[in-house]
Amino acid sequence: MATRSAILLVEDDPSQRESLAGILRQEGYEVEAVADGETGLARLRESPFDLVLTDLILPGLSGMDLLSHLVRHWPETKCIILTGFATVKNSVAAMRLGAYDYLQKPVDRQELTLLVRRALEHRRLQQENLRLKKQLCRRFGFANIIGASEPMQQVFELVRKVADSDSTVLILGESGTGKELIARALHYNSPRRHGPLIPVNCAAIPEELLESELFGHERGAFTHAVRTRIGRFEQANGGTIFLDEIADMSPTLQVKILRVLQDRAFERIGGVKTIRVDIRVIAATNRDLEALVTAGQFREDLFYRLNVIPVKIPPLRQRTADIPLLAAHFLSEFCRRRKQPLKRLSPEALELLLRYPWPGNVRELENLMERLVILCEGDIIRPGDLPERFQPLPPVHLPEPPPDFPPEGLSLTEAVQDFERRLILKALEKSRWVKSKAAQLLHLNRTTLIEKMKKQKIAAPPDLPPLPKQFT
Ligand SMILES: Nc1ncnc2c1ncn2[C@@H]1O[C@H](COP(=O)(O)OP(=O)(O)OP(=O)(O)O)[C@@H](O)[C@H]1O
Ligand SMILES: [Mg+2]
Repeated sequence: MATRSAILLVEDDPSQRESLAGILRQEGYEVEAVADGETGLARLRESPFDLVLTDLILPGLSGMDLLSHLVRHWPETKCIILTGFATVKNSVAAMRLGAYDYLQKPVDRQELTLLVRRALEHRRLQQENLRLKKQLCRRFGFANIIGASEPMQQVFELVRKVADSDSTVLILGESGTGKELIARALHYNSPRRHGPLIPVNCAAIPEELLESELFGHERGAFTHAVRTRIGRFEQANGGTIFLDEIADMSPTLQVKILRVLQDRAFERIGGVKTIRVDIRVIAATNRDLEALVTAGQFREDLFYRLNVIPVKIPPLRQRTADIPLLAAHFLSEFCRRRKQPLKRLSPEALELLLRYPWPGNVRELENLMERLVILCEGDIIRPGDLPERFQPLPPVHLPEPPPDFPPEGLSLTEAVQDFERRLILKALEKSRWVKSKAAQLLHLNRTTLIEKMKKQKIAAPPDLPPLPKQFT
């Protein structure tokens, strides 16, 4: 059963006090009735109340004084002012100070019960809202972002440092690396956490709509503008705007965004009034913005405005230490959601996941785990349960060593290097110089192969025909 709402009644007139308390008790509330402000304040200090009903004129501490204590120390407690005809003006002032409403004496029973119910409902909704916000803060704090690898720890460290500030953050990283998650963590760990977080996917909204989406428009600004519309920048006031896929924005819009970033001010489309906003800007892209600047496709000045604090999220293949943790996290999450017994990866299956280059990064891993939870029958996931692309390729057939191998006078180190060089060349040829494929053939990760190629001074032969786009 829900606990009864607690009401504190402060009224110096004994008969009024008795009568009001009686009505409220009949309505099922827990009522404490006191005769003056000081006693009321003392009771508030002792235990929490959902609502305070107070007369304005009291001996000693007045109803107004009590209200200012409430606003300062117990802002969640609602307050209804009881007022005689002569003090109606004061009750308006009380509302300005933060009272929920006022009731004129003599108090009408129905009016009283209705107003009390409304005030308590209002408080309940406010608390519910606060609870949901807290839940969101927990969900998008760091608790749900997995990353034990050194590069991710560095990302977290940086995010922790900049979350507190109002600086613009530019999140860079391949698709599926967790840019949006980091943007949310930044907002929900910042002083703006109780304000809105407004995401805008610049790539998903058609260009002709994007401007009105961002800046809003005045009624009649264009044919279909039948009413005034508030844009995303205005909605984000007091909070954070997250400009996702920032590279996919037209040059005209880039200019307009630049102005908002510089001045925190803009006009709605068709409007003349300059609107000022207090916002924090977080932007993200999976493209190489610097290259786009060089190619003249992204404004240099906008790039510098955005690139105040760059946060680079490394691709999953460069933080293989996170793969087992992420896989376990997603498996337990999906099993819990489907109310299934927990599934685990066999060491051999995990080995295959560690070798895989993960072009779709964490999102690809997440999707794979979901699929395995649904499709895999046993509670241990084995190599055979993984899709084709994870299966080890047949080993490279080693070329027969030449008859004079190792050649006369060659040291062991040189012989090993020579052998390694030939193996790498063979794998590269076999995979048409697609390094990630060659790396798979050699059971290496791509970066190790590239390092080895550098050491061995192996470069792609200049006459190699261009590869079809999907291989690059
Ligand atoms: N470190 C992590 N821990 C837990 N889940 C993660 C992590 N990184 C990413 N994810 C999950 O992977 C999915 C993709 O993440 P997100 O949408 O943040 O990536 P993105 O970089 O914004 O991708 P895109 O560039 O495609 O928009 C999400 O479901 C997210 O919850
Ligand atoms: Mg994203």
